[in-house]
Amino acid sequence: MKKWFSLLLSSILLIGLLSACGTSEKSSEKQSGGEEKKVLKMGTSADYAPFEYIDTAKGDEIVGFDIDLAKMITEELGYEFEIVDMDFTGLIPALQSGKVDFVLAGMTPTEDRKKNVDFSDVYYVAKNMIVTKKGSGIKTVEDLKGKTVGVQTGSIQEGEAKELAKTIEMKIESRNRIPELIQEIQAGRFDAAIIEDTVAKGYIKNSNGKLEGNTIPTNEEEAGSAIAFPKGSKLRDEFNKVLQEKMKNGEVDKLIKKWFDQQ
Ligand code: ARG
Repeated sequence: MKKWFSLLLSSILLIGLLSACGTSEKSSEKQSGGEEKKVLKMGTSADYAPFEYIDTAKGDEIVGFDIDLAKMITEELGYEFEIVDMDFTGLIPALQSGKVDFVLAGMTPTEDRKKNVDFSDVYYVAKNMIVTKKGSGIKTVEDLKGKTVGVQTGSIQEGEAKELAKTIEMKIESRNRIPELIQEIQAGRFDAAIIEDTVAKGYIKNSNGKLEGNTIPTNEEEAGSAIAFPKGSKLRDEFNKVLQEKMKNGEVDKLIKKWFDQQ
């Protein structure tokens, strides 16, 4: 009897062990209810408040509009997700190599990027802003003549600055992270930076009146944010369906109010 019992016990352990291996390979997780939920990896660049940033007051958790949106969509579809934080330039390669399953990073679905990844519908549209020290006298793109202008590496703002530089002579400097752009302005090394307005406003508000911003004409199609997926990923249509639903029933609007209106 005792022998049977120990045999039973060891086979239970063995099964447990085997299934644990199996699930980790599929990157899924056994829920307490016994049903399996697939854990998706979400790539982001958490330097982009209020889209995604580390709330230092609350520890090292990444929060923001994109995180709430990801939560809303994955919950509805029955997925878990975990965040992988990296530089913005690393996001598309991470999708291509399968390191992440989707990207929410305020990323604009440009024609160029569409060659390498698939995008959901646009979930938010913003404009670009010139950020400078207060009283710089720089207000329009023409005022950037002869100036040093910072942009985030690999962003559409970098592309926009390069386009402007064809007609207005300026020096473009790229940095990997948005806070670096702000620091360079404050240190007087950059005269200005081109940053998305929703993000720029947060830095201006927190600068104690030291920074100012002026919105510049922005091509609507060129400033939207969408979710990115590896080419051919089935997730795109799944996510899009829920996104459409939530945009229609006002749930996405609620998130927009929560994260963008408080500025
Ligand atoms: N919307 C711009 C782009 O797609 C900038 C996005 C930057 N996102 C970030 N998480 N830093 O290029």
